[in-house]
Amino acid sequence: MREQFPILQREVNGYPLVYFDNAATTQKPQVVIDAMNDYYTNSNANVHRAVHTLAGEATDGYEACRTTLKDRFNAPKVIITGGTTEAINLVAHAWGKANLSPGDAVVLTEMEHHSDIVPWQMLAKELDIELRYVPVQQDFTLDMEIFEASLDGAKLVCVVHISNVLGVCNPVDKIISLAKQNGARVLLDAAQSVPHQSIDFQKMGADFMAFSAHKMCGPTGIGALLVSDDAFEQMQPFMGGGDMIETVSIHGSTYQTNEHKFEAGTPKIAEAIGWNAALEWMEQIDLDSEHSRLLELARWLSQQLRDMGMTVYGRHDDDDAAVVSFLHPTMNSEDLAHLLDARGFAVRTGHHCAQPLLERLKITGTVRASLYFYNSKEEVENFVKQLSDILERFS
Ligand SMILES: Cc1ncc(COP(=O)(O)O)c(C=O)c1O
Repeated sequence: MREQFPILQREVNGYPLVYFDNAATTQKPQVVIDAMNDYYTNSNANVHRAVHTLAGEATDGYEACRTTLKDRFNAPKVIITGGTTEAINLVAHAWGKANLSPGDAVVLTEMEHHSDIVPWQMLAKELDIELRYVPVQQDFTLDMEIFEASLDGAKLVCVVHISNVLGVCNPVDKIISLAKQNGARVLLDAAQSVPHQSIDFQKMGADFMAFSAHKMCGPTGIGALLVSDDAFEQMQPFMGGGDMIETVSIHGSTYQTNEHKFEAGTPKIAEAIGWNAALEWMEQIDLDSEHSRLLELARWLSQQLRDMGMTVYGRHDDDDAAVVSFLHPTMNSEDLAHLLDARGFAVRTGHHCAQPLLERLKITGTVRASLYFYNSKEEVENFVKQLSDILERFS
């Protein structure tokens, strides 16, 4: 498997690269690079508008990505976006503006990524809606009592499936069923869960689900918004332009009725072709057994870190992701990350775009190691060895 990822063959600062920044973005297998290269080399053309052979190939390639996503997630509607952030902003503009009125409440959690907070803050200013934040407790879980209480009169619940800082998997089935009982729609930020779990969107019962290709071996700059049929009917076009219209005259325009209504302009053609290759490549991965293997490594790593005197943020329960956030009691995180980089290890530091969560935890950042399919036990063991050597020398 590792041989299929050309970047994993390289060295960093004279050491073999050990890539532990997968929650930020994952590496790409050769088949994805080849698919995009092949499109630009052999089939480059715009989609939907011409009858020539190249246009047909480009259109088929682009639409194949949508078909694969529909099949994989059992989704009635798949709008192709620029990623999770753009998908959430699309819900705010296309659904929020058409369905929320002054005084309406939107429920968020303190665990959200900035991309599931800032669009709602901007909308709240514009529409005078109320934002209610569900707190994160000491054990890194959401306060479900406050969640239930906050549903009273709420129109929309926005929740992250798996936290990019803690790896904690939220009880989305319960959250969705409580929200539905209270008549609220649900938007799931699945940026960190889709790369690790198979999800049946219709069975799960959410109205919107947002995620990005680049966190699941696909290219950057593309993602998707899955939408239920009835929520789709409530959405108004957000961006206007080519491809989303049926007719245009100087007196007005009519719009497409399918997903194209929300994909104005030339779309992400090469990226869709690359993502489709990534989705097909992922079919060979047994997600459940990979989840167990990586979680086991994360649990072992967390214990080793605690034994070294680190604080680990997260709990690594059965459904949680292999994300290990930690802090040394005295050593600066960026210094630690630089010293690790000097030995070939790529880890993340900082607030991970989740400042409200870090504020709740009373910290300003963590060092984060996040694992994916191509990471091995040997890499994790070596990480512990090198880290303990660094601490001995520098702390
Ligand atoms: C939980 C979560 N939500 C949203 C995002 C934003 O994704 P993107 O930058 O691909 O739009 C990320 C990316 O780190 C994330 O981890």
